[in-house]
Order: sequence, then structure tokens, then C-alpha cells
Amino acid sequence: MVVLVIGGAGFIGSSLVRELSKEEEVVVYDLLTYAGRTENLQGVKHVLVKGDVASRELHDVVEKYSPHTVINLAAETHVDRSIYSPENFVRTNVLGALNVLEASRRFGFRYVHVSTDEVYGEECADEQAPLNPSSPYSASKASADLLVKAYVRTYSLDAFIVRPSNNYGPRQYPEKMIPKAVIRTLLGMSVPVYGDGKQERDWIYVEDTAKVISTLAREGRKGEVYNLPGNNVVNNLELLRTLGEVMGVEIRLKFVNDRPGHDRRYCMRNTKLNYHVTPLREGLERTVRWYRENRWWWEPLIKDRFFLEDEPWREGR
Ligand SMILES: NC(=O)c1ccc[n+]([C@@H]2O[C@H](COP(=O)([O-])OP(=O)(O)OC[C@H]3O[C@@H](n4cnc5c(N)ncnc54)[C@H](O)[C@@H]3O)[C@@H](O)[C@H]2O)c1
Repeated sequence: MVVLVIGGAGFIGSSLVRELSKEEEVVVYDLLTYAGRTENLQGVKHVLVKGDVASRELHDVVEKYSPHTVINLAAETHVDRSIYSPENFVRTNVLGALNVLEASRRFGFRYVHVSTDEVYGEECADEQAPLNPSSPYSASKASADLLVKAYVRTYSLDAFIVRPSNNYGPRQYPEKMIPKAVIRTLLGMSVPVYGDGKQERDWIYVEDTAKVISTLAREGRKGEVYNLPGNNVVNNLELLRTLGEVMGVEIRLKFVNDRPGHDRRYCMRNTKLNYHVTPLREGLERTVRWYRENRWWWEPLIKDRFFLEDEPWREGR
């Protein structure tokens, strides 16, 4: 019995593969872009096939391994990059999802589509709420979600959608807020704060997300939407203050221009699932420890402009 995890070499994907591989045969299909790294899967039992979610090769891989379930996490995921250069987001996040849906129509596997709370925009949202995305990233994720719904309705596909809130934890690429703040502080650099820093996010520890998706892969119901909030809502300044306490240093803040279209808050409600959420401070302690102990993992990545720049979405700087 095989589970195919598309995007399984990324941050959430590799945590999910760790969880799934305890009980299942896992095949990872991943293009290994800048965010997907074989290092993320070191010591984890899996088969890796390199490939593009939007290509027909995916169908060959499905034919070869006959997975009963396919979980799709493959995506371009960084909002700043989507402002800088949006096209790839549509190709991977929309056409990629369409390709998985087509493969599911052809081969009949169960499809777990991983989306995001960002599709709802700033309004508080339960699972029925309308989609109101603000960035090219969240618009591409919302587009894919609509395709999943259409395929369930039109072709009666066994598919459903999971929408986690902001994840953090080990192996997150240093472009993202928490690893960027931790690593820049370890290197003695300041940490950029977009706008007034009062934007609210709801943080969930990545292993909590992995456990829920792993359970849903068995128990999720066709056509459902599952919201997966972390129940740890803080604004960015509060988050950086707590992070500084955990690191035992004062994080040097640098206020910079706000990024265009920046949502003031995400506010997602879960009315369907029961799951454990790690308290924010505990999750941050584990995360900081991991980045302190695994410099080898992040040192090759810090030349990336989305780590180094204070306003990296800006063109031509
Ligand atoms: N990280 C978060 O806070 C968060 C929150 C909610 C939802 N999500 C969603 O969860 C999923 C995983 O996010 P993540 O943070 O692990 O992302 P990530 O950027 O760390 O990893 C993305 C993975 O997808 C792979 N990939 C990219 N383009 C591909 C392509 N064309 N074909 C095959 N593989 C490709 C990359 O190589 C990488 O392994 C995404 O769908 C994202 O939208 C993430």
C-alpha cells in the first residue's frame, strides 16, 4: 500500500513523510526546487522520484506505484516571491493541481489537497467562508481549491482540501519569517519588520500539521474542507519578542516598508477536527534548538536574496 507525497522534500512535506513512513510505504515526487532538498529526508524511509507536478511524468509515476492516496504539497510557497515574480506560482500551484486531479480521474486514487488559510483573506473564516485571496500566492492556492471542488462535483472524485495556518519548525527555508529571524539573529544581523509589525498570524508547529494530515489521509471525507488553525494567534512584534526571550537575546528590529497587499490578519476557525497543538513557546524552543544545532543545513542557503534583503519583493534592487 503506497502513499505518494508530491512536494515531500519541502518543509511540511518532509515532516509529513517522517510521520507517514512509520506505517506506510511512501513515494516522494518532488522537483527539488530551491525549497525541496534531499537533506530534509535524511534518515527517513522513502523512495524519491524527481519530477514536476505539472508534467505528464506524474501519470507515469502513479501508474508505476499505484498509490491508494496522493497528498499534494508541491507549491511555490513564498508570498514575497509571488509579488516579485508570479508566473511560476500559477504554473505549479494551479496547473500542477489540475494535473494531479486529472491523474486522479484517470487512476482513481484518493486526493488530499493541501491549501492554506491565506485563501480566506483577512476575514474570520469557518470552512464554508468565501475565498478572498490578496497575494498572487494565495490567489493561486484559491484557484486550485476551486478546481478541486469542481472535480469532486463534476467527476465525483474522492478528493478533499486541508487548510493549515502558518507553520513553523525545523527545516523551513530561511526566506520565511521565523527561520529568517532566528538565523539572522544568530549571525548578528537585524531582522526586518514589515510595516508596523502588528499583522496577526496563527502559528502551528509543523509536526502537529503532519500528524493531522496523516490522519486525514486515512479518515478525511470526500468533498470536505478541513481548516487547521494553530490556535496561537500573535502579531509579528509579539512573536519576535517571544522568540528573543527563547533565544536569550534581544532581537534587533529594523522597520521597513510594508509589503504590497499584506493581510493584517488571518483568522480561521476549525469546526470539524480535534488535534493537539503545541504551545507557541514550546514549539519555538524546539525550532531554535534545531537551527542552532544544524548550521550545516542552513549555511549554504544564506546567500539567497529572499533571506538577505530587507524588502526582497522589490524589483531591480
Ligand atoms: N509553510 C506554511 O506556513 C504553509 C501554511 C499553509 C499551507 N502551506 C502549504 O503547504 C504546502 C507545503 O508548504 P511548505 O511550506 O512545505 O513549502 P516548501 O516551499 O518548503 O516546499 C515546497 C515543495 O514543493 C516542491 N515543488 C515546488 N515546485 C514543484 C513542482 N513544479 N513539481 C514538484 N514539486 C515542486 C519543492 O521542491 C518543495 O519540496 C504548500 O502547498 C503550501 O501552500 C504552507
